[in-house]
Amino acid sequence: MTPPQAPRRMHLAAHFPGVNNTTVWAVPPAGPTTTPAGGAARRPPHFGSQIDFASFEHLARVAERGLFDFFFLAEGLRLREHKGRIHDLDVVGRPESLTVLAALAAVTERLGLAATVSATFNEPYELARRLASLDHLSGGRAAWNVVTSSDAFTGENFRRGGYLQHAERYARAAEFVATARELWDSWTPEGVPRPFAHHGRHFRVSGEFDVPRPPQGHPVVIQAGDSGEGREFAAAAADVVFSRHGTLDEGRAFFADVKRRLAAYGRAPGDLKIMPGVTHVLGDTAAEAQERAAEIRRQQVSPQTALLTLEQVWGRDLSSYDPDGPLPAVDPDPGGEVSHGRVRHHDRLAVAARWRALSEAKGLSIRQTVIETTGRQSFIGTPRQVADEMARFVAAEAADGFILVPHLTPGGLDEFVDRVVPLLQERGAFRTEYSGPTLRDHLGLARPRERT
Ligand SMILES: Cc1cc2nc3c(=O)[nH]c(=O)nc-3n(C[C@H](O)[C@H](O)[C@H](O)COP(=O)(O)O)c2cc1C
Repeated sequence: MTPPQAPRRMHLAAHFPGVNNTTVWAVPPAGPTTTPAGGAARRPPHFGSQIDFASFEHLARVAERGLFDFFFLAEGLRLREHKGRIHDLDVVGRPESLTVLAALAAVTERLGLAATVSATFNEPYELARRLASLDHLSGGRAAWNVVTSSDAFTGENFRRGGYLQHAERYARAAEFVATARELWDSWTPEGVPRPFAHHGRHFRVSGEFDVPRPPQGHPVVIQAGDSGEGREFAAAAADVVFSRHGTLDEGRAFFADVKRRLAAYGRAPGDLKIMPGVTHVLGDTAAEAQERAAEIRRQQVSPQTALLTLEQVWGRDLSSYDPDGPLPAVDPDPGGEVSHGRVRHHDRLAVAARWRALSEAKGLSIRQTVIETTGRQSFIGTPRQVADEMARFVAAEAADGFILVPHLTPGGLDEFVDRVVPLLQERGAFRTEYSGPTLRDHLGLARPRERT
């Protein structure tokens, strides 16, 4: 008899809850249920804010206690606006990611530290040295989520004219990553800097790199764009994809599509890990979890948030509509801009058609439709149900692992780590200890060979 096959081990990452519609700010921060050593004493009075170091520290320590692969920070380079006013979630501000991660490197030992940094608004030499520095400071735990940033509005903060076309942004990103890797590879194995020279379409740089080769060789590269160009860029250059395809069917289709693209670059399926962003809600019984999930969705999508979300798709002022009433009969304005600074819906008419069909089929109001389309949690149930379901996704090749996006700052992962991680470990679906010191070790990725 052949012994049963061990399940594929999943990877887990902790997304710091930020200025997105999944974060619930209306409830007072509950504070940690399990306090890391020394954590409670240093908690400032407004603990729970997304800008306090104590919040970052708490989530990172809990993720490390849960043996997560990495901690993840998204990035927004300009405060978003809606109908000419700063979006209220943004008023707290957004600290710079690599600075936060450098501080976290000092209070964690094994956890990977991933920063989202735009390839459109930075320069290779400057960013390569900051990432190499973080990799050195953390003993090989740095990762870079390479995003291309979505609009001219953000660009106004950075460059004359503000804008690069979509395809041009990806060409720049690909050359950016290649150049950064040339810089990281420029030192000899004996630790002597060699001159580098990169003459491409986007960058003409030469000189000597001032940081020795990073402990991981190259910090881990993550990619998070969904278009054909984005997927191709991931297949060519990334180690991890942060995807938005968190359902079983969408996840499987995305997984198959991106893994299929790897062969053209001489890469094996295991060389690129696919990790959708997902949410979870736990309860002692399935019914209790469902009840909590419904309550959280109501908190995430208030009547005002429902209208605001609808306005983003419709590109129009819809403030006269009743959030508890039906969807507007008027069509979206394909060119209308009511909000700036968020990832846009590519085809508004198609999104609106889907939302209308859903609302008609199920008799949903505006608010219920927004809840259904943007707020439904990925995994809801008892800890065992959630562990089983996550393992099923990985076994079915809908994901190599997950980036967990909790809805509370900073205690949103406590319960998951205490109650779900042990069950994943019990069934062999998650590690019981870190196998090595670096993020590449956690992800099972080879260290890039040195240039001799
Ligand atoms: C799951 C996901 C997360 C993203 N996170 C960020 C982010 O934190 N900051 C940012 O500037 N852009 C972010 N982006 C935007 C991408 O970098 C990219 O600009 C955008 O998706 C347009 O590219 P695409 O057409 O290939 O999707 C994200 C995209 C996806 C799909």
